[in-house]
Amino acid sequence: MTRVLILGGLGMLGHELARTLSDHLDVGVAIRRPADAWPSSLPQVAVTGGTDLLIPDAASRLFDAARPDVVVNCVGAIKQKSMAELDAFAINAELPRLLARACAAHGARFIHFSTDCVFSGAPTPARALGYTEQHTPDPVDLYGRSKLRGEIGGSGCLTMRTSFIGREIEGHVSLAEWLFAQAGKSIRGYRGALYSGFSTTAMAALVRELIQRHPDLSGIWHVSAEAISKYDLLNLLIQRGRLDIALTPDSDFQCDRRLDSTRFRQVTGWTSPSWEEMVDQVLSQPRHSLK
Ligand SMILES: NC(=O)c1ccc[n+]([C@@H]2O[C@H](COP(=O)([O-])OP(=O)(O)OC[C@H]3O[C@@H](n4cnc5c(N)ncnc54)[C@H](OP(=O)(O)O)[C@@H]3O)[C@@H](O)[C@H]2O)c1
Repeated sequence: MTRVLILGGLGMLGHELARTLSDHLDVGVAIRRPADAWPSSLPQVAVTGGTDLLIPDAASRLFDAARPDVVVNCVGAIKQKSMAELDAFAINAELPRLLARACAAHGARFIHFSTDCVFSGAPTPARALGYTEQHTPDPVDLYGRSKLRGEIGGSGCLTMRTSFIGREIEGHVSLAEWLFAQAGKSIRGYRGALYSGFSTTAMAALVRELIQRHPDLSGIWHVSAEAISKYDLLNLLIQRGRLDIALTPDSDFQCDRRLDSTRFRQVTGWTSPSWEEMVDQVLSQPRHSLK
């Protein structure tokens, strides 16, 4: 069975990947915390704790021990969490390059996640279906700049520019987690903020497909679902989750970071679930607790 090692296993994406992939693949996770922090409500996969990947040789030692066929990198310094410039570049730009080299040395495939934030999102009628791989990235913040520098597209390396929503294990910084924390309040939703990400459950299903059915796919790809405004997405979560939150549309803010994934869909045959399905997936994800 294919051995898959997930780095950043306690993150929003990492833990959902571990939950979803472990039914079908031989899954191990690496986490920065001690191994016994792994939630008891998640599948009891092989956990390597205390893995700070910024420590020199940490990745090599980890790969020597785990001997993965595929490494899925869910480690990142995301923009919702405060970060120093040095940390952002070390984690988002330099670490993926180091991991890709370590994967090559160990004969493992490297799967990595970049972001729609490598683009500014400045609205223009010229971009009818969103950004394609042919558009020149123009990031406007530290997160986007650092993630762009970490994109790896050589042989054996697959980088997906994408985005996702889902449950976190700790914290309330993701869109869904922030929304769930607004019970009893009034919030505004941006009609002009256009989004084409996934649920973390749908992304995990896609990663499984890429491992099992597209073992040779490499390069940098745009991977997106049908576009939706942030207002419509919040509204779906509130309606389908019967959340006690008053949502008002706001048309002041405009940002169009839709990604056009025509190329990816043609090559892989992938079709994303509907937003109704993906919202239901987010609503049905349990919130796990650290042990
Ligand atoms: N969230 C999105 O919408 C989105 C969109 C596009 C791309 N991405 C990318 O997808 C990846 C996963 O995102 P996410 O939202 O799941 O992030 P997340 O919830 O913040 O998880 C990131 C994980 O990285 C771990 N980590 C950070 N520095 C580390 C280090 N030096 N050594 C070992 N582990 C370290 C963290 O460990 P601790 O638990 O110990 O802090 C955390 O578990 C990131 O690369 C992100 O840039 C995310």
